[in-house]
Amino acid sequence: MINWRYCLLIDKETISEIKNSVNIVDVIGETVALTKAGRNFLGLCPFHGEKTPSFNVVEDKQFYHCFGCGKSGDVFKFIEDYRGVSFMDAVQVIAERAGIPLAAENAGSDRPRQQHPHQALYDIHTEAAKFYHAVLMTTKMGEQARDYLYQRGLTDEVLKHFQIGLAPSEGNYLHQSMAGKFDENTIMNSGLFNLAENNLVYDAFQNRIMFPLTNDSGQVVAFSGRIWQEAPADGHTAKYKNSRATAIFNKSYELYHLDRAKPVIKKSHEVYLMEGFMDVIAAYRAGIENAVASMGTALTPEHVQHLSKYSKKIILSYDGDKAGQAATAKALDELRDLSVEIVRFPDNLDPDEFLAKHSPEDLQHLLTKTRISNVEFLLHYLKPDNIENLQAQIDFLEKMAPIIAKTKSITAQQSYIYMLTDLLSYFEFQQVEQAVNNSRLDGRRERQEEQGYQSYQQAPAVVEQPLSKQLSPLIRAENHLLYRMVHSPLILNQYRLREDFAFATEELQTLYTILLSNGEVTPQDLSQLPDSVQHAWYYMLEANLPEESSDEELREVEETREKELLRKDNQLISKKLREHYHNGNTDAALLDLQQIIEQKRRME
Ligand code: UTP
Ligand code: MN
Repeated sequence: MINWRYCLLIDKETISEIKNSVNIVDVIGETVALTKAGRNFLGLCPFHGEKTPSFNVVEDKQFYHCFGCGKSGDVFKFIEDYRGVSFMDAVQVIAERAGIPLAAENAGSDRPRQQHPHQALYDIHTEAAKFYHAVLMTTKMGEQARDYLYQRGLTDEVLKHFQIGLAPSEGNYLHQSMAGKFDENTIMNSGLFNLAENNLVYDAFQNRIMFPLTNDSGQVVAFSGRIWQEAPADGHTAKYKNSRATAIFNKSYELYHLDRAKPVIKKSHEVYLMEGFMDVIAAYRAGIENAVASMGTALTPEHVQHLSKYSKKIILSYDGDKAGQAATAKALDELRDLSVEIVRFPDNLDPDEFLAKHSPEDLQHLLTKTRISNVEFLLHYLKPDNIENLQAQIDFLEKMAPIIAKTKSITAQQSYIYMLTDLLSYFEFQQVEQAVNNSRLDGRRERQEEQGYQSYQQAPAVVEQPLSKQLSPLIRAENHLLYRMVHSPLILNQYRLREDFAFATEELQTLYTILLSNGEVTPQDLSQLPDSVQHAWYYMLEANLPEESSDEELREVEETREKELLRKDNQLISKKLREHYHNGNTDAALLDLQQIIEQKRRME
């Protein structure tokens, strides 16, 4: 039903602007756990009960379609059906999410705009930012500071974009310039000045490179100043000094550069979170404008709430050093309700240092193309140094199992279990899988007890990021083979003739058997199979190999497969060997050892 009251207020252009400002995958992803399957996203249909996913979200065309119940539509239709609201209400929901004000709210906006109670504080900051910027760009004093910034790779364009400035090196230059324009209250409450013992006012920032800090609407609300000449040898001069908290500045809430990043965040549906101002500036120099930073504090719940107004997807890009990695782990905890990916910087570098050593293209590539998921990060981060030790492996498994169990997508979960198994010589895939399943059951029970069953069911699903294709080499090789068989009857036939051929991965073998007997795997076939097999199917299809294949290529893949099978075998025997030793069964241990040596020879 069309609601005419709203129709008068929202025109067609605005409606399409609203629609274009969100990605249907993000919107649906908030209520349906979606897994990337080929070019689309797949999940359990929210409109009819189902156990195997047939609900498709087509990102290219921004619509959804369920092969089970046939429901389909665009993002508005989804909200209408899912929440049972009218079309116009759905438009409003999406507009609010996108931060687009609707005419209804603005009605009667020809009233004179009310002055903000802190308008004078905003104004004095605007003036101060202009003052500092002019000192940097136009004075003799500024010349040296500019040289320092040029040496760090900044250009005039960048200095202007970030309105970087310089605080003069002593006295009260800023005060002299502001005293005539603002009343005493404003001056004293701005955080820009201090009072000396003799009651004289002096500038709070002296001889520092000045970074204006803005709120969401782009108003300057504070500054951070960096030392740039040799620090006094007092040992406690901070590298960066921030304005103190004022009526318009709360550093636990504001994020550097968010106002300028906003439009790009809206388009790309993601935001980079970095540690420092210079890192955000480095990203900008590499063509990435949707980066922000917290300001000298660890990420707070207020920051998270602030960020989540604009994006549900955060790309953590903290420094590559130990402190940065520890901060990443902490931030992951704060960001647990959002979708997170991580960029790891090599050689202890921060983004700015990385840019100084590499090209802008390299930085862009690192930021856009090498992200890993939170679980992948934790696999690196929590991996003990003495991973050879059995107790260390058990502890590591106990830490990782509940983390992996929280992963919404089954496909991703399977891959994490493979990755973890690869790191654990004492454990087999099935054991790791069992540990994950156990802790999933524990988690579920706990949550149900905490919140009651109802609310657990309604807990919002988080969009799981597609894995960065880090399957084990064995599965990759087997996926490759099956992919070729699915796409070429000729190749399938070659393998049909090799009666001793079988896949080592159980799911792939199941699919292979069907393929052999029917010549294809239909959606009906798939729907009868266990989830894990269906996911293995989609995962295999995602292999996305070049169209042409050659015998040479298949030979190489088979070689990899053989090697991996031998390696797995070896792991198994090594494990037996350790057990035998442990139980004092030296004869059996010797036999195992012999077997290992023979195998090693074959692998060479
Ligand atoms: P870093 O020490 O990593 O500095 O602090 P940086 O970003 O690499 O800066 P450059 O490259 O040396 O200029 C990261 C962030 O922590 C805050 C600042 O916001 C800084 O950008 N910080 C740092 C402070 O607030 N005070 C300090 O003394 C140091
Ligand atoms: Mn730095």
